[in-house]
This record gives sequence, C-alpha cells and structure tokens, in this order.
Amino acid sequence: MCSRVYIVYLLLLIIIQIAIDDVDGDCSLSLLEDFSQPSPVFLKDGRTLAPNSDGAFLFRRSDTLLVACPGDRRHILLDNKTSGYSELEAHCIINDTFRVERWIGKFKSIKCNTQPWFTTEDTQDRCYGNHILYRVGYKLRNKFITLYQACFDDAVMATLYVTHELNPANKHLQPGQRPNFVEGNLFGKVRMSELYKVKKQAERLNNVLGANMSNIYLSKKQFLSRGHLAPRADFLLRAEQQASFHYVNTAPQWMLGNAGDWAALEEALRRRIQKLGRPVTVYTGTHKVMTLADTRGRMKPIYLDEDVNNNGVVPVPLYFYKVNI
Ligand SMILES: *[C@@H]1O[C@H](CO)[C@@H](O)[C@H](O)[C@H]1NC(C)=O
Ligand SMILES: *[C@@H]1O[C@H](CO)[C@@H](O)[C@H](O)[C@H]1NC(C)=O
Ligand SMILES: *[C@@H]1O[C@H](CO)[C@@H](O)[C@H](O)[C@H]1NC(C)=O
Repeated sequence: MCSRVYIVYLLLLIIIQIAIDDVDGDCSLSLLEDFSQPSPVFLKDGRTLAPNSDGAFLFRRSDTLLVACPGDRRHILLDNKTSGYSELEAHCIINDTFRVERWIGKFKSIKCNTQPWFTTEDTQDRCYGNHILYRVGYKLRNKFITLYQACFDDAVMATLYVTHELNPANKHLQPGQRPNFVEGNLFGKVRMSELYKVKKQAERLNNVLGANMSNIYLSKKQFLSRGHLAPRADFLLRAEQQASFHYVNTAPQWMLGNAGDWAALEEALRRRIQKLGRPVTVYTGTHKVMTLADTRGRMKPIYLDEDVNNNGVVPVPLYFYKVNI
C-alpha cells in the first residue's frame, strides 16, 4: 500500500517535471504586471531586455540579469529599501520571484530610487557633413548602453538624423507619464526648453517676419512642438522610453503635423514591423529649413533662435523623413 502511494507520488513528480519542462522558462514576467517604476535598466547577455514574440519575458533558472540604476546618487531599491548599489545581478528563482544577493522577492520590487540618468557620448565617428555622431543611452560601469545615435550639427544646433532599432515585440509598452526633456550639454548656452515656449516662438516670428506676424502662424492648436525623431513608443521599457526625451532627439515640428500625419506614420511603421517579424534600423531625419512669408511676402528661413553673430540656430526643418533598413 505504502509503496503504491510512493509510486503514484513519483509518477506525479515526473508529470510535474514534464509539465515544467514544457514551459519555456522557469521565470516568466509580464510587461504590465511585473515591471515597476522608477524602472531600472535591465540587461541580459549585455543587451537590453526584450520579450519573445508573444510579449512574454522568459528566463531559465540559470539566467542572470544585470540590474542598473546609472547616474549620480542613483541606487537599486529592493522592497523599497536601498541596496547601496547602482548595479547588481538578479537571478531567476521561479515565476516572478528573483534573487539579488541574499534578498529574494518579487521582480517588481526591484526598482531605482529615482529615474536612471541617460546621457550623450561622442562615438568618435563622423557622420554626414563631417558632423559628430553621438550615442545616447545609459553609461554603466563598464559599458555604454546605446538606445539611439544622433548625427548632430553643432554650428546650427540641429540633429540631421537619428538611428534606432525598431523591434517587432514592441506591441505593448510599459506605461508611465511623459517626463521633461533633458537639455544635456550639446546646446551650449541655448536653453531649448525656453525656445519652445509659445511666447518665445511668437517673439521670434515677429522679429523675423515683422510685427504681429506670429498671429498669422501661431494659435492655441498650431505652434512648434518638440518633434521626437526616434519616437517614444518605439521603445518598450520605461528606462528606454525616458531616454528618448533628450533635445538631441527632437526638431521643431508643427503641432498639427506632429500629432497628425507624422504620428500616423510612426504607428503604421510599428504595425508593419510587427508583421515583418524582425527588427529594422530606422533613420529619422530632417532636411532643409522651412520658410514663411514676412509682411511683404518675402520668404524667410525660420530658426528658433540666433547666435551672437545673428546666424540662425535650431532650424525648423522643411522636411522630416524616415528610412528603414
Ligand atoms: C513600496 O512603496 C510603494 C509606494 O509607496 C508601496 O505601494 C509598496 O507597497 C511598497 N512595497 C513594499 C514591499 O513595502
Ligand atoms: C508558479 O506559477 C505556476 C503557474 O501559474 C503555479 O502553478 C505555481 O504554483 C507557481 N509556483 C510558485 C512557487 O509560486
Ligand atoms: C500689432 O498688434 C497690436 C495689438 O493688436 C497693435 O496695437 C499694433 O498696432 C499692431 N502693430 C502693427 C505694426 O500692426
């Protein structure tokens, strides 16, 4: 009798074992339920964490993840308690349970004390027109995690193009609020956030085109907005979306276009890539300078500001384009 129970028990164990082996991973995370904020940067095998085609994040028990909260006075929180470290390894235990050093808990209890800090770095490469190619992302202890690259013309303070990878898994995004844009150190004394204030835009247009001309071009609905080049929604995890909010990833874009046709194009591209089923490299660029008629009907190029020699800086592009490879 006893041995029969034992055999049944053994069989049950084997069945459970088979059932477990059938599952693709020992740990499984859902984007909407298991990732919290402020979200750390997560790396697996040196790359940013990406879900499988079903949108699930699966791990084997032997898998380790690098958890990082880069930046000054940033550190990892475990159950709201500081670990004192800005980079640690997390190990899959089971389901949504992970181990970090001697702490064991839910994956969603791994957070940063505050948003990780992202930055630009000279790649030492040159791009179109012998301009500097910057990488933008997170500077970890031994590695720079590049989320996109920007070809930047520092004479006129304009980004010629940005490249990023668009992944078909980006069907769902980790939700969260839009942060402020970061100025970084590429724009010298120019305060980009000031230039975009509608009052400032009106002053500028009146200066260039003549008194009260801003009334013709600007309204509550139509003004120059911070047009994302690599779109926020092309990035899956919060820490990656955040990094898209750098002024090097923007160009002045009319609001009605930004929220209209351009947004529709971005959305259509994401759907296409999901269908395609493989990642593509997207170049998003700007070309030429938009002109507007002044009081006497002469066409004047529009820049949001000018330098000490009265040369325009931060041009309003005539064209925005995307090239996908
Ligand atoms: C951590 O803090 C958040 C927000 O204050 C709270 O909702 C959560 O329950 C806390 N978690 C733990 C494990 O104490
Ligand atoms: C892991 O998840 C499975 C499926 O949801 C569940 O049956 C099992 O009890 C969980 N294991 C642990 C240790 O929580
Ligand atoms: C501009 O508008 C203001 C206020 O409506 C008006 O007083 C002023 O005369 C206008 N200036 C010109 C040059 O039209």
